Amino acid sequence: MPVKPVIKIGNPILNQISEPVSFIDDKLKQGLIQDMLDTMAAENGAGIAAPQIGVNQRIIIFGIGKNPRYPDAEPVPTTILINPVVTPLGDEKKDGWEGCLSVPGYRGLVERYTSVRYTGLNENGIRIDRVVSDFHAIVVQHEVDHLDGILYPQRIKDMSQFGLIEELEAAGRVPKINKVEA
Ligand code: NI
Repeated sequence: MPVKPVIKIGNPILNQISEPVSFIDDKLKQGLIQDMLDTMAAENGAGIAAPQIGVNQRIIIFGIGKNPRYPDAEPVPTTILINPVVTPLGDEKKDGWEGCLSVPGYRGLVERYTSVRYTGLNENGIRIDRVVSDFHAIVVQHEVDHLDGILYPQRIKDMSQFGLIEELEAAGRVPKINKVEA
């Protein structure tokens, strides 16, 4: 299955609200979902949303193994989530540096809920219902934002906390090893 080009910020597809998936079948699994998996792997992403390969449907994929690139992140199982719903648990939020495959070369400081519950269907139509926190919670919030037409720069409160990776790294503002893009 082909690796698809990742659509970049400025393309209006990324600003649209995506449509719910009405049924899950082999065509979806072998087509769009496989393309998303292949593209995420090729780009070394921690996550990807269907609009990033040009399809406005409510599907996200995320996951990271124990990886020296993400030393602070707990492993997140590779998860295919269709029609996801995310609910914050409590009011606690935390700032973290985020990157996005659709905003290459940049990082920005974004506030996200620390703990969330998420539900949805996997590629076999089985319901997923998880309570997660920290990196796992951040990546899910980032991906679901893509389905609502929101890119992380729209969530940055202070635009002085946004910049090119190499400048932020040279200034010691982001850890050199933190290359998470989603
Ligand atoms: Ni992204």
